[in-house]
Amino acid sequence: MRTPPDLTERIGPMFAQRPTDDSAYEFYDAIREQSPFAIPGLNMVCVGKYEHVAAGFRLPGLVKQDPERRDRKHPGWRDRIGLAQFYQSLLWHNGDTHRRLRGLVNKAFTPKRVADLSGGVTEIVTGLYRDMAAAGREADLARDLCSRIPMHVIGNLVGVPTADQFELLPHVLDFLLVIDPVHAAEATERAVASGQILHDYFLDLVARRRRSPQDDLASALIAVRDDSAALSEAELIQTVYLLFAAGFETTSNMLGNGCVALLTRPEAAERLRQGHARAFTEEVLRHDPPLHFVSRIAEEPVVIGDTRIEAGTEVVFLLGSANRDPAAYNDPHAFVLDRSRTPLASFGFGSHFCIGAGLARLEGEIVFGTLLEHFPGIALSGKPVRRKTFNMNGYECVPVTLS
Ligand code: HEM
Repeated sequence: MRTPPDLTERIGPMFAQRPTDDSAYEFYDAIREQSPFAIPGLNMVCVGKYEHVAAGFRLPGLVKQDPERRDRKHPGWRDRIGLAQFYQSLLWHNGDTHRRLRGLVNKAFTPKRVADLSGGVTEIVTGLYRDMAAAGREADLARDLCSRIPMHVIGNLVGVPTADQFELLPHVLDFLLVIDPVHAAEATERAVASGQILHDYFLDLVARRRRSPQDDLASALIAVRDDSAALSEAELIQTVYLLFAAGFETTSNMLGNGCVALLTRPEAAERLRQGHARAFTEEVLRHDPPLHFVSRIAEEPVVIGDTRIEAGTEVVFLLGSANRDPAAYNDPHAFVLDRSRTPLASFGFGSHFCIGAGLARLEGEIVFGTLLEHFPGIALSGKPVRRKTFNMNGYECVPVTLS
């Protein structure tokens, strides 16, 4: 049994730069074979091989930093209302509490509800194409298309009226900054202020839906019952919070990463014109995933592959590395539409597997399947600019001419 080798020296330069650009994938190639490896100064072990990531997510000894554990590590976190709501949501629970909350949310967030959104998503996307065309020949796909789609889709799903969606957008973006591990102190203050605004808004929305239910997820969550317990008022707000936090920037980044892929890879664009939007979406999610890391805490000593990891260690799964592991995908750096169906690491594995994966895929298929049809001559007008975030992987600017 080996102990994880200390790769602090090699990790340093990577942490000093922003890892989520092409150099991240070179870096993953360089360290994957030594994974799991340790960064003792951070009490952290990183896992980069696909096989280990897929198995590691399912290890019972690896748990989420739930509210009780967070109390021990970061006392005072509950004082900041917006962050407190997010960190109490089902994403951050383990065992029976997680099973209960996820079961209740699944009753409202059904595959049928997602499938029924298809027409609405197409309408949203077509409306945004119209706005872009009306605004002139130049556009920024990140700003004008990719970040607006998830806002409208989740807003409509939850039941936030369209006018309010525009007002909430900057607050959602500010709030999300703090989820990234490397952010300026100033971002924390903005995130806390925006968190409070979102909290007050959702509280009011739930109260309105209680008085007068609509055909939306907020009303469905209120109506959900199981034998033992319905969602409490606090759990309801936390869940709505989580859907915005989990489904917003991830999807917006997937759409941006896919737009850049289709504008820079003529062969893939040609396949899209022939109607392969589903396969294209899968390959975008694999090749340049919107999230690069997901972590757990080792509650007890665990073994991953031939490596023993001590209790109390933070275990970080490198999703971007798993998706480019040659042991799981042939020629992993190539962008290829006809791959075997090895499940992607991009949505995680096991009990916390992404609830919104179906919705995200639907949004991808609709955008990638229609963009070239609407704008046959669309082309990059400058170099796309990557976001400066550390974990969230996407573009902040994708300049194009539309004609
Ligand atoms: C391409 C877009 C997306 C990506 C890459 C993504 C990625 C992920 C990942 C990796 C997890 C697992 C986290 C963990 O194990 O700790 C997760 C969980 C989750 N995602 Fe997504 N997500 C996306 C879109 C969405 C959307 C559109 C929604 C809903 C509107 C959503 C809602 C959730 C929720 C509620 C969870 C928590 C599940 C649980 O803890 O049981 N996600 N997502």
